[in-house]
Amino acid sequence: MEPIADVPRSSHVPTTLPPVGEKPSCQIQVNGRTIDAIDDERLVDAINRAGVEVPQVCYHPRLGPIQTCDTCMVEVNGELARACASKVAAGMTVVTESARARAAQTEAFDRILGNHLLYCTVCDNNNQDCTVHNTTGMLKIEHQKYPYKPKPYEVDYSNPFYRYDPDQCILCGRCVEACQNVQVNETLSIRWEDEHPRVLWDGGTQIGGSSCVSCGHCITVCPCNALMEKSMLGYAGYLTKLPKDALNGMIDIVKAIEPELGYGPIMTLSETEAAMRNERVKRTKTVCTYCGVGCSFEIWTKDRHILKVQPADGPANNISTCVKGKFGWDFVNSKDRLQKPLIREGETFREASWKEALDLVGRKLSEIKSAHGPDAIGVISSSKCTNEESYLMQKLARAVIGTNNIDNCSRYCQSPATMGLWRTVGYGGDSGSIHDIAQASLVIIVGSNTAEAHPVLATRVKRAHKLNGQKLIVADLREHEMARRADIFFSPSPGTDMVWLSAVTRWIFDNGLARTEFLHEWVNGVEEYRKSLEPFTMEYAARVCNLPLETLTRVAQEIASSNATCVLWAMGVTQHCGGSDTSTAISNLLLVTGNYMRPGTGAYPLRGHNNVQGASDFGSMPAYFPGYEKIADNEPRERYEKGWGVKLSTTKGLDNHEMIRAIYDGKLKAMYLAGEDMYYADSNANYVSGGFERLEFFVVQDIFFSETCRYADVVLPGSPSLEKEGTFVNTERRMQRLYEVLPPLGESRPDWKITQDVANRLGANWNYTHPADVMHEAASLAPLFAGVTYDRLAGFKSLQWPVAIDGTDQPLLYIKGFPLPENKATLFPLEWIAPCETVDEEFDLHLNNGRLLEHFHEGNMTYRVPGIHAETPNCFLEVSPELATNRELVTGQWVDITSRYGELRVQVFVTNRVKGKEVYIPLNSLGHAVNLLTGDNTDRATHTPAYKETPVKMRVLPWKGQNPIPKLNFRYGTPTPQRGVEVERKWKRADYSMPGEKHGNGLVQITTK
Ligand code: SF4
Ligand code: SF4
Ligand code: SF4
Ligand code: FES
Repeated sequence: MEPIADVPRSSHVPTTLPPVGEKPSCQIQVNGRTIDAIDDERLVDAINRAGVEVPQVCYHPRLGPIQTCDTCMVEVNGELARACASKVAAGMTVVTESARARAAQTEAFDRILGNHLLYCTVCDNNNQDCTVHNTTGMLKIEHQKYPYKPKPYEVDYSNPFYRYDPDQCILCGRCVEACQNVQVNETLSIRWEDEHPRVLWDGGTQIGGSSCVSCGHCITVCPCNALMEKSMLGYAGYLTKLPKDALNGMIDIVKAIEPELGYGPIMTLSETEAAMRNERVKRTKTVCTYCGVGCSFEIWTKDRHILKVQPADGPANNISTCVKGKFGWDFVNSKDRLQKPLIREGETFREASWKEALDLVGRKLSEIKSAHGPDAIGVISSSKCTNEESYLMQKLARAVIGTNNIDNCSRYCQSPATMGLWRTVGYGGDSGSIHDIAQASLVIIVGSNTAEAHPVLATRVKRAHKLNGQKLIVADLREHEMARRADIFFSPSPGTDMVWLSAVTRWIFDNGLARTEFLHEWVNGVEEYRKSLEPFTMEYAARVCNLPLETLTRVAQEIASSNATCVLWAMGVTQHCGGSDTSTAISNLLLVTGNYMRPGTGAYPLRGHNNVQGASDFGSMPAYFPGYEKIADNEPRERYEKGWGVKLSTTKGLDNHEMIRAIYDGKLKAMYLAGEDMYYADSNANYVSGGFERLEFFVVQDIFFSETCRYADVVLPGSPSLEKEGTFVNTERRMQRLYEVLPPLGESRPDWKITQDVANRLGANWNYTHPADVMHEAASLAPLFAGVTYDRLAGFKSLQWPVAIDGTDQPLLYIKGFPLPENKATLFPLEWIAPCETVDEEFDLHLNNGRLLEHFHEGNMTYRVPGIHAETPNCFLEVSPELATNRELVTGQWVDITSRYGELRVQVFVTNRVKGKEVYIPLNSLGHAVNLLTGDNTDRATHTPAYKETPVKMRVLPWKGQNPIPKLNFRYGTPTPQRGVEVERKWKRADYSMPGEKHGNGLVQITTK
């Protein structure tokens, strides 16, 4: 048997589906035919795989059996049963098309049509994939058996992105299941006991201002038009933009002719219209441009209008998205997009032709290289751009300019995590897949606001915690959503995570709970490391981290007793002076507890940008070629010299941070920076901009005129991900292809083409015609990607590196040991060094910063999405209730915040997410750049700025403004958690009977979910 067709071939398969490629283990009879099946799988899956047509309105393979619609009634061994809720057993006999089964199916669907008007021709959901429409055809329904009954509720348009129409809602409950148990936002429910049940937000408020985070799961799974993206309404169909009166008139005509003509001709008309609209609607697969989770989906467009984002089989995300991936694309058509090259004229810029701009870039960079040598030029690649673009940027620096001064923004976030992993296990990547995180029996999150920064990945933890008994430990300065859900939550003093991690590791050794067999077989340096743990007693950690001893002991006990632990961490760990050491301590702990080399275990630094992993993987780093081979090593360098036909420099290049310093030192004269608003992204913005001002020549390539562009001499208009082809690598090392959704806007160009043009102006002779050419070259030179081809990545296929020449990838990274001497991991001894900067009498508040769910970083893209802007228009400073009382602050109050490096003015938001003298500012800080406050200190090993070590003082201003977070925002909502749809409550209704049984019999099939 072939693997199940609609499941991507990856390690990430939801537990609700039969494992990919699982062999049939039994046979069953369906309509007299023998079919292969898998013991205990859902009967509906076996039937579908065999191509037998059975209606199934509420069933969605990613949601499991909901059992609300009853349309899948079949005879199983002579008894009527729901196919979705029945499990396969060897030898079972199934009849799907007996008169009895058909009558039950039709009766169930007739009831559905009592809740839904079939006005398909004028419906924006008439796209050949509407489940209600298609089931009407499948069951050959001609007439409405039960009259359509509108519900006594208004359509709800209050969310900026979607609307709910109760009158079209068939109460299948898919949306509720998705919200409760996939997104686990727990906003939606159906109160089955109501006279007229409908879907409820927070138990019955309007959508805007409810706890709905606009992730879009509910709309994605809705089988009809009850939930729809506003961007579809009036745009999808030929007749759907008609004025409401005209539309209602047409709907009335449908109602009037149905009793006489039947649905047949009406459906034929609508199907013709659907076929016509599909001619002009383009569906293109892409990968999300925001965070490192790497959600993939199809984008539907009509010309340049984005109709909707439709996830289905993303290997990282399946049906999941967050608000940014589902709704955050308006920036692509923003009037602010750069569409022509710009050249500085004094204090302003003028538009220029590509030829003029590129000639100027070529001439100036050549002159500077001639006058000062190649190392006077720095190149910065973008973690928003593709792997192919990163590869070309580093090739431009190394092979054309002749310098290793090439870096990317992983310097600002991820380098310490990579360093921690290099020191201990060899590869700087996640040890497994998101699926492994979901499988773990214990997840530990350190310094990551996962639900907001990596939202879809967080849903897997939330689901496993809610439904599968996974334990969750969270260490963070803020009590964010994951902290609230955790079994154990604690807040160590800022920058001290390394101490508690080391103390817990020592406790595990001391109590004889280390996995000695694993250590013996797979780990070097055990004794030396154990000795280094001597200072790290629990008492010491309790004192340094300001934590109760009992909490630390409980944490240690949980870790020691777990049989599969994953640790997730992010910038709360890495953006400290000891970021690399804390990352190392995490990996040490995992090694001592044997939590590598097995499914459900390992280290998961959560990569921030869509392609921050790929930007480094493909060589935009000062000391490494693509695939992390050292420029200092002869063998790889000779390979690249041969491949590129040039002699390469062996001088280690400058990283981002060092480049700015080198400008001040007069050593770096020019920079070529692509897709990075470095002014906002680097720490100590005043120092960075001072550096830019000193450059002799500065080229910035971007899609908007960013703050950084203000310092440029030439600005080149690049393209966002939707306007190009290429690949990204997500946080799981998963490489995925993106396809061109829209042509480049105006005269903007895909970044790989621009880099090629710049290289050729500098004397290269590059002739890449497509990113596939670039990948082919990279795969031929970098062993880590040897087997990567565009064919192997076609559509929704993906590969997790390393990829062998035959295309075999490695979802679980460490299967046969570690890429270190003797094939073993190494425990890395550490010493505790206190944070570089701490609060004192004058700078008495600790400032933390990070992402918000709805904005990406500084918001260059997301502020240009009107719906996101409406929900979250402002930056703000989170202040604890204690501090607010102490300083007489209220929400909306203006304050000046001053650090040792700068100051900014911001409004206060009082919240118990922060405690005491902790304050927090989100990164969506256009006009309030948090990096005006951050300083010069960096991680000792990698130069990642210590953004999270920023003591500040506060001056309260006499002005009180509006609440900076509007009432529309989800943060004011009150979720209504429940087990799911809770269909049993529907079955208890007096007016319910299972189709095919006499009314009032009360027979219900016991759920086998
Ligand atoms: S959070 Fe909102 S958008 Fe997401 S599934 Fe729930 S109701 Fe739908
Ligand atoms: S709104 Fe929810 S319950 Fe109603 S039809 Fe759509 S998915 Fe089903
Ligand atoms: S921002 Fe991240 S979690 Fe959200 S859709 Fe994009 S990749 Fe997925
Ligand atoms: S598909 Fe709805 S009850 Fe089975």
